[in-house]
Amino acid sequence: MAHLGLVGIGVMGSAFALNLAEEGHSVSMLDRTMAKMEAVQEKGKAENLSGELIACADAKALIDSLPTPRTVMLLVPSGKPLDGAIDMLKPLLAKGDMIADLGNSYFKETERRTTELEAEGLYFLGMGISGGAEGARHGPSIMAGGSKESWARVQEPLRDAAAKFEGSPCVDWFGPGGSGHFIKMIHNGIEYADMQQIAEAYGLMRDGLGMDAAEIADVFQGWMKGPLNSYLIEIAGEVAAAVDPKTGTAMLDLILDKAGQKGTGRWSVVEALHLGSPNSLMAAGVEARNLSAQKDQRIVWEAAFGASLEPLGTDKAKVLAQLENAMIAAKICAYVQGFEVLKAASVEFDWNLKMGAIARVWRAGCIIRSVFLDEIAEVFDADDTANLALAPKFKTYLQDTMPALQELMGLAVARGAHVPALFAALSFFNMSRTGQSTANMIQGLRDRFGAHTFERLDDLGVKVNGPWHD
Ligand code: 6PG
Repeated sequence: MAHLGLVGIGVMGSAFALNLAEEGHSVSMLDRTMAKMEAVQEKGKAENLSGELIACADAKALIDSLPTPRTVMLLVPSGKPLDGAIDMLKPLLAKGDMIADLGNSYFKETERRTTELEAEGLYFLGMGISGGAEGARHGPSIMAGGSKESWARVQEPLRDAAAKFEGSPCVDWFGPGGSGHFIKMIHNGIEYADMQQIAEAYGLMRDGLGMDAAEIADVFQGWMKGPLNSYLIEIAGEVAAAVDPKTGTAMLDLILDKAGQKGTGRWSVVEALHLGSPNSLMAAGVEARNLSAQKDQRIVWEAAFGASLEPLGTDKAKVLAQLENAMIAAKICAYVQGFEVLKAASVEFDWNLKMGAIARVWRAGCIIRSVFLDEIAEVFDADDTANLALAPKFKTYLQDTMPALQELMGLAVARGAHVPALFAALSFFNMSRTGQSTANMIQGLRDRFGAHTFERLDDLGVKVNGPWHD
């Protein structure tokens, strides 16, 4: 059994410490607040957990309590607090000791930290951990990156603590440096796209079909019986069904419509832009959160122009059936884009990522877990270079559901709906199936104003200028 250090006993840290202790591993904890660690110890005792939970008064006590070579995991906010914790530990650690960062760190920062710590003879592992507090306690999905030696040190306790999909632990090492955090970042980007699609479906039902929260909850619950079966749809049903104990009204109706964000979604979009990999669904998710935050301005615009969404018509059953299929089509597009970004990053950073292994780790424990992920894993296990959209099963899904997305978008846009993620999926699909695009016009314009040259269809490989330069 392992004995690990854990710095940062917040909501996630306490849950993860208890999880490791339940699996029989011992954890030396360090937090600014002794009471938090004592609460974890009490819970551990009450639940009769076999691993020891040690509360350390300071960093020295933490380091002294660990067997060598030591492993200290950090669950502190990324950025400056994380660097502060590393700086605090570094002078106390000996060569061969290891620090593992379990936060949502920016992958390039993970690369920097890895280089700096390895130069001092220390190991560093960058790990994304998904599943919220519930996952951290009962089984998260974990995406690790760093040296293989670092991974070897922690793989046993992490396998024990991770979520299991049909017995197989949802944790893996994917490659060197910041690769684990990059994968977690894209996980979160898909999470943004999924959540935006859910919010759009909710909006179409609430404002387009005049449904109340309880009725909307029933629809989400119904979707759990089909291909949309996923954690986020499940909890969307719970959120829509919940009633505020204070007022007796639907909780959802009382929540301020300004979405928060900590940065991983935005990073996913920026990185995909750098890689030149289409990523319009995550971008729609981030943009919509940005616009949601400007509530005061939205109220002014509504007064100036009128509210946008008019009723979607009376054939509610038909619209709801289209909506379910539209959600399937869009969800697949988000996966297609997400995995293509991962492939592009793998080539760019020479990580040799295995798409099948990533999909397998996402099958349980994480926020984006869904029945699709097992099917996605199967596709990539058979051919890691496959484009998901063209794999027979997903091709059929898209062929079956895209007409509904197309029809619904026609109706929704005509009635003034704001559906950026669903619409992005349709646009992405339609442009992707257009062999002859309109980029010849862009090339013509670039050449006309800047002599940037273009290739002629009848003489490929040769850069030429157009007649406008003669
Ligand atoms: C997870 C979540 C988790 C966190 C997000 C929230 O996988 O468990 O993604 O990491 O909830 O970072 O991100 P936002 O605050 O940006 O929505």
